Amino acid sequence: MNKRQARLFAIASTAVATVAFFGLTLDSHRQFGRLTNASAITDQVTRGKDVWHDNNCINCHTLFGEGAYYAPDLTKITQLRGEAYLRAYLKDPAKFYDENRHRRLMPRQDLSDGDIGDLIAFLDWVSKVDNQGWPPRPLLVTGATFPGTDSSAGKPPDAGSVAAPAARPTSAADDPIALGEAVFRTAVPACTACHSTAPGVNMAGPSLAGLAGRTQVLLAGSEYHGGARDVAAYIRESVLTPSVHIVPGAMYSADGKSFMPATYPASLKPEQVEHLVAYLSTLK
Ligand code: HEC
Ligand code: HEC
Repeated sequence: MNKRQARLFAIASTAVATVAFFGLTLDSHRQFGRLTNASAITDQVTRGKDVWHDNNCINCHTLFGEGAYYAPDLTKITQLRGEAYLRAYLKDPAKFYDENRHRRLMPRQDLSDGDIGDLIAFLDWVSKVDNQGWPPRPLLVTGATFPGTDSSAGKPPDAGSVAAPAARPTSAADDPIALGEAVFRTAVPACTACHSTAPGVNMAGPSLAGLAGRTQVLLAGSEYHGGARDVAAYIRESVLTPSVHIVPGAMYSADGKSFMPATYPASLKPEQVEHLVAYLSTLK
């Protein structure tokens, strides 16, 4: 290539790259309305965004992976936790986590009920933005990573993740226990967003380690007033009508209503509930 050809080549390739850059940028902008559900941005969502900025939530948290990495990413938090939990949490975060075990705590923000409602509307809008899979896994409190259904499977656990009992082989497509373990990870929201099966790891919900054993004790005692007579029925009741019996603890319920989502009777098929029963009954 002589000098003149080299110059032409440089000019032509710069031109091609520039056209591609502007083309892709325009294409992205063209899609923003659809990806962000722009029509769903109500006044309340906008007010919630202002509350978010006024309180510098971003100094500790991330949305879409942007922000500070001190506290969990909140992109999908309304889907993972539900409104009842978030209302109570934002009112008084100190009730939910313990400084010794979790090491870092969220300071109380003294938000009014109105601000909290607006914030939740904003975060709910955020959770519905098509983020094309980014960030790939929400980071949850206790440093536990969110197993989900995604690319994390098969990779070594992150340094901060919680040791769970070894996974059972999931090859047997008709093994109800293996199927139940899969539902536990893939239900919407995933049970693993709130429950660990490692002893003592209480996230938004209690650890389910030893569930079958402690349920037998519970059913035999006088503290239990629900309708279940055996472990299987108790698990079914816990998933479908969680408020019938509420595990004691300020962080698990408010006004007699469990923070466990009330959406499972609609989103889980009866056989999926039975698979969950089979899996969770093995947690002795
Ligand atoms: C000084 C840092 C800091 C600020 C500011 C902050 N947070 Fe947090 N937040 C945390 C930490 C740390 C956690 C992890 C839980 C804990 O230890 O309390 C957390 C947890 C949360 C959770 C999730 C709880 C869960 O169970 O997964 C939500 C929701 C939340 N914060 C919302 C907010 C909102 C909304 C704001 C702004 C109004 C805010 N935070 C401001 C530090 C902060
Ligand atoms: C948003 C958080 C959240 C999600 C998601 C969640 N749970 Fe819960 N779960 C809770 C809370 C909080 C409690 C304690 C209050 C209560 O008893 O309902 C609980 C209690 C339970 C209990 C009773 C535990 C005991 O010690 O007696 C079982 C069993 C249970 N959940 C199973 C599940 C299953 C299965 C799923 C998925 C289909 C699931 N949970 C999803 C928050 C959650």
